[in-house]
Amino acid sequence: MSRIAYVNGRYLPHGAASVHIEDRGYQFADGVYEVIAVRDGVLIDGDWHMERLQRSLSELQIGMPMSVTALNVVLRETARRNRFREGIVYLQISRGVARRDHPFPSADTRPALVVTARRTPPLAAKIIDAGVSVISQPDIRWDRCDIKSISLLPNVLVKQAARVQGAFEAWQVDGDGFVTEGASTNAWIINGDGHLITRPVENAILNGITRRRLLALAKQQGITVVERPFSLAEAKSAREAFLTSTTAFVLPVVRIDETVLGNGRPGSRTLSLRQLYMEFMAEKETDFD
Ligand SMILES: Cc1ncc(COP(=O)(O)O)c(C=O)c1O
Repeated sequence: MSRIAYVNGRYLPHGAASVHIEDRGYQFADGVYEVIAVRDGVLIDGDWHMERLQRSLSELQIGMPMSVTALNVVLRETARRNRFREGIVYLQISRGVARRDHPFPSADTRPALVVTARRTPPLAAKIIDAGVSVISQPDIRWDRCDIKSISLLPNVLVKQAARVQGAFEAWQVDGDGFVTEGASTNAWIINGDGHLITRPVENAILNGITRRRLLALAKQQGITVVERPFSLAEAKSAREAFLTSTTAFVLPVVRIDETVLGNGRPGSRTLSLRQLYMEFMAEKETDFD
């Protein structure tokens, strides 16, 4: 079945969908994006994604191309037309098309909206059962990592370094030796007391929607959650570690650089948290057919 994309008001065959060569997203990475998980006709935590999208746009003074209600219709319609039960919806809004010049274009330039959707096969059970490795990399990004900007070059470079070294993810480390986050995931550890530790939401990390949901779910279970920075050294001596994202959900980390965590198997607490998150997604009511 052919894929369908939405571009500035039109649903088009994926292969025929394109944007203007002077789109500022293309020339300046002047735009933002969201990736939303779709499970059985549900956009998981869609409202939180819309909230974060609006925040990113407002920090960059880019307008919404349409109301949130209309955007929600487009997201669901794009997902529906691509006919899958498990996958993702990707949406990107750029400042629009204008003659190349650094300052913002005139106020009548309309933000450009692209939405794509695709099936994503669930992570192989053997990856979850075995856990994944991460490598550490210096965090060379800017001071506004809280904005979900399409400017992802540093993230691309560290993810590639991980790929080359056979690791799933790269944990970026700030100038003081503290882990910020992965290239496309948030980073967590569990200490000897069973406390969950993850970096607080500030400009150095993206406020991950999966992170936010897992924090709420864990607190409901009475699990102690501490939002504070942790160093790479602390992570390497942690009882358990894991990462979260819209596409990986909750994924056990069993190795950081050369250091194997615990017995090298996914920790039981991490696996329970993954289960908790999977149950949360399964309980949602269908948004579209
Ligand atoms: C830098 C970064 N951190 C964290 C995340 C995880 O965020 P979410 O749970 O919203 O997918 C992402 C997702 O793309 C990301 O790019």
